[in-house]
Amino acid sequence: MEITAWVFAFLVLLGHTQVVIFAHNRFYGLPLGHKTIDLIQFSHFLWLLLGPVVLWFLWSGQIPYPGTRDPEWLRVLLWGFATLGLLGPPIDLFLRARRRRMSFVSIRAPITSVHAENPMDLAGTGIWARIARLPGNRSLRPVLDRAEVSIVGLPKVLDGLTILHLSDLHVRKTPNALFFERAAEELAALEPDLICLTGDLVEKGGISHADVFRAFLQKLKFREAGLAILGNHDFWHPTGPTLKVLSELGYHHLGNHKRTVLVRGAEVSLWGLEYPWNPELPQGWNQRLGEWTLCLSHTPDHFPRFAKLGSGLMLAGHVHGGQIRFPVIGPIIMPSVHGRKFDQGWFRRKDAYLHVSQGLSAGHPLRFGCSPGVSLITLRCADES
Ligand SMILES: [Fe+2]
Repeated sequence: MEITAWVFAFLVLLGHTQVVIFAHNRFYGLPLGHKTIDLIQFSHFLWLLLGPVVLWFLWSGQIPYPGTRDPEWLRVLLWGFATLGLLGPPIDLFLRARRRRMSFVSIRAPITSVHAENPMDLAGTGIWARIARLPGNRSLRPVLDRAEVSIVGLPKVLDGLTILHLSDLHVRKTPNALFFERAAEELAALEPDLICLTGDLVEKGGISHADVFRAFLQKLKFREAGLAILGNHDFWHPTGPTLKVLSELGYHHLGNHKRTVLVRGAEVSLWGLEYPWNPELPQGWNQRLGEWTLCLSHTPDHFPRFAKLGSGLMLAGHVHGGQIRFPVIGPIIMPSVHGRKFDQGWFRRKDAYLHVSQGLSAGHPLRFGCSPGVSLITLRCADES
């Protein structure tokens, strides 16, 4: 085969892969059940592997197809994939580089009490434990991000407020109870004003996981309030034990509702967004936000709506920073209807701000170039002049 044919085949393969990944990311961001998601993931995996093979055999004539030997649709399809393979990556990288990043003071440090342990002792047992211990896998090496962020419109009473943003604990066998115990020991010293939990707290697997979650949360102390919502993984099994832990430890479970909470003697508006996994339409879904609002949303997908409705800060998780991130390219798999747009860190639209946590753990402990972590955020009133 000539070199041009190999280049063409490579571009077709690249374009096809992009289509599968695009579909995969968007489907995973939809309100579907666990079994449906598993089925879609499996079919995407098959499509990824078998699609190029089928195309190759069709093109080379080894699989007979009805009609002429050179159907128009096959040529259009192959040229479409090749064009996408050629233009897609540079356009995507250009748009990604152009996206404005927020500037703020940030310090990242390992959670040393966890790093001091041998990974063998943190991984638990079974196949996922072996995967967690693979060289380069960061799943057992969490970090603490400290950021001081200037917020336009922040009520003066909240200037200097500290928030510990914890998301996607996915408490299960891997990482094990010791991982959460050691992490809690170090995080306990922070004593923030608010602790905000943005979902995917406990995985399926019985009451013992809820006990590990309780022991972890019990060690952490907040000065003003503890706030929580649930995520898709929480809704894929009975939520009772998790909600019981939250309630016993004094956390406000926001669900899909609005409410206020007293912080430093002033009423602060809160909004919980568990939608779409909690299928009840969120309170005030289409109403303008009357006040500056602190919103806890499991998925960052709701941020454009939040920004349209008013001003405030949204805290979100769900996407885990992509879990596998490549230099320059960034993450590839990202369960969001916005693709890789809100991958991790800080984003702003007008007077609405978004912080996306990379999550302390994940359903599958597989992280390369993407550490798990928690964030300590200090809010500052921005100079609006
Ligand atoms: Fe998650």
